[in-house]
Amino acid sequence: MVLMNRIAKISLLVIILNIYHLLNIRGQSTQTSTYCNPINIDYTYSIYNANENISYRSGADPAVVKFRNEYYMFVTRSMGYWHSTDLLHWSFITPEKWYFQGSNAPAAHNYNDSVLYVTGDPSGSMSILYTDNPKKGDWKAIPLIINDLQDPDLFIDDDGKAYMFWGSSNTYPIRAKTLDREDMFRPSKATYELFNLDENNHGWERFGENHGDTVLKGYIEGPWLTKYNNMYYMQYAAPGTEFNVYGDGIYMSDSPLGPYHYAPNNPVSYKPGGFMNGAGHGSTVIGPNITYWHFASMAVSINVNWERRICMFPTYFDRDGLMYTNTSFGDYPHYAPTIAGKMGEFTGWMLVSYKKSVKASSYYDKYKPENIVDENVKTFWVAENNDDKQWLEIDLLNFATVYAIQINYHDYKSNIYGKVPGLYHRYFIESSMDGKNWSILVDRINDYKDVPNDYVEIDFPQIVRYIRYRNIHVPTPKLSISDLRIFGRGHGQLPAKVKNLVVNRYKDRRDAMITWDQQGNCIGYNIIWGISPDKMYNSWMVYEKNFLELKSLTVDQNYYFSVEAFNENGISERELIVQSE
Ligand SMILES: *[C@@H]1O[C@H](CO)[C@@H](O)[C@H](O)[C@H]1NC(C)=O
Ligand SMILES: *[C@@H]1O[C@H](CO)[C@@H](O)[C@H](O)[C@H]1NC(C)=O
Ligand SMILES: *[C@@H]1O[C@H](CO)[C@@H](O)[C@H](O)[C@H]1NC(C)=O
Ligand SMILES: *[C@@H]1O[C@H](CO)[C@@H](O)[C@H](O)[C@H]1NC(C)=O
Ligand SMILES: *[C@@H]1O[C@H](CO)[C@@H](O)[C@H](O)[C@H]1NC(C)=O
Repeated sequence: MVLMNRIAKISLLVIILNIYHLLNIRGQSTQTSTYCNPINIDYTYSIYNANENISYRSGADPAVVKFRNEYYMFVTRSMGYWHSTDLLHWSFITPEKWYFQGSNAPAAHNYNDSVLYVTGDPSGSMSILYTDNPKKGDWKAIPLIINDLQDPDLFIDDDGKAYMFWGSSNTYPIRAKTLDREDMFRPSKATYELFNLDENNHGWERFGENHGDTVLKGYIEGPWLTKYNNMYYMQYAAPGTEFNVYGDGIYMSDSPLGPYHYAPNNPVSYKPGGFMNGAGHGSTVIGPNITYWHFASMAVSINVNWERRICMFPTYFDRDGLMYTNTSFGDYPHYAPTIAGKMGEFTGWMLVSYKKSVKASSYYDKYKPENIVDENVKTFWVAENNDDKQWLEIDLLNFATVYAIQINYHDYKSNIYGKVPGLYHRYFIESSMDGKNWSILVDRINDYKDVPNDYVEIDFPQIVRYIRYRNIHVPTPKLSISDLRIFGRGHGQLPAKVKNLVVNRYKDRRDAMITWDQQGNCIGYNIIWGISPDKMYNSWMVYEKNFLELKSLTVDQNYYFSVEAFNENGISERELIVQSE
């Protein structure tokens, strides 16, 4: 019965899809309504540096500002910046005038109908750059009588008072000076110390992958101040940009200079599990229709620790004034900021390619094709060549309705440095029901765009079993892909509700061991926790395993935990459990 129904449903869809073919409508979307982290921009390559002459792309520490209802994104060492009208499509601007191409962790602020941008030069002196035409980029400089600020944040309050915050250290706290706008932003003599890490009480501020390093101290970095309802939310990053657990926490105050109080739901922006990890050092911006978005950095960290990408997450303030971001399924497709009523929500399109069977035209050295379906950005496939003879084929083993595809290219000995014009990727993707009769699903044959993390939405979802990537051109000497991710819905059963969730909070209350029963018919689990049953703001995705050692808790805080299972067909129901004392 069930099988018959399924066959009937598939035949109906096949008929509909054939009608689309007759009308000559392509599956591929022209009007994208979703996005998938990491965001797909033409990340700048690091400039050649004899001490570290490894070629890699990076984008990190995004400072996003709204200006005349459009958005500008400033990113560490990018030799320019990006512009967007919708927080979804970004185009690179090479400004007419630019200072200090090596600028790290910039700050940006919209004030008096200008964009103000703060940066330092390699000698350590700082300037405020400003322009009322960032599209042209005719920047003018106000040198600051202030030196060597790491990770600055410029904030000008509604009352016109200006502040400079900064900090990137495993010793010094986040600090501040006031600036006198009437006098070339002259800084105050006084320096205010706001707060520092407190690793003995805040588990998530501890250094290392999974907060596992017990020797080195964590770094406090990347301050960014957001004002909401007369409350000041000072965001700060910890414990280090190269780790899966890099995140942003918040201290709150009713005054920009404090006193500041630790937010009970920290870390606020945190994405330690899944394909792309890290959600730290960013900025918060008001998007369309007064929705808030938190931008941050994600670690790739294969070629060097500083190889990173940018992500964005929908951000909210709850009725008790706590700010939180939702990073759940945070590297799966979500609705774009402009989609009314759905902005930021998870689409429900699941990963249908996880550990499925893969074949390839060739592979180089030990970099095998199965690395493209393992949900690990740090493993990758390298083809023997970078030409149009190279292909990859994934057998999904079952039929699935495919809604979107993400191709994450990797830099394997790319030998490209700086912002090189004219880089592009060309390819096409075919699909098939039987592995014999193929039709084109994604057509990037005549596209000449630099898309290192290309994400393509399929307008008319296709039922397929086989997917084939056919390369035409990549800008790098080797074709290398870290993951080719296929999103959609399988046609089988949802996983069952998870059983026997047990949380064992250690004597060291920063840590807990969470376990549950392994179950069939699922590929992974989402562990969800929060400070009360209606504030379950944090999550950590794991594939396959049935335990998580969670080291990010705050000592004097009680928590509630839940877990859900997921597979190609969707997500199970959740169950709540209470963690006592
Ligand atoms: C830089 O490249 C040169 C030549 O390719 C090589 O000999 C040297 O070891 C490299 N240096 C580093 C730090 O990787
Ligand atoms: C705003 O900018 C204008 C000209 O660019 C300047 O004359 C004015 O003083 C500025 N206002 C404030 C409040 O800074
Ligand atoms: C803006 O928000 C309002 C109220 O939530 C909603 O009715 C409207 O559809 C939204 N518009 C857009 C463009 O998102
Ligand atoms: C976060 O997003 C997930 C996925 O859409 C959703 O199930 C969950 O309820 C959201 N969490 C909160 C606190 O809104
Ligand atoms: C191949 O598939 C197309 C539709 O996708 C169909 O029209 C055609 O008949 C199929 N050809 C064969 C030989 O099965």
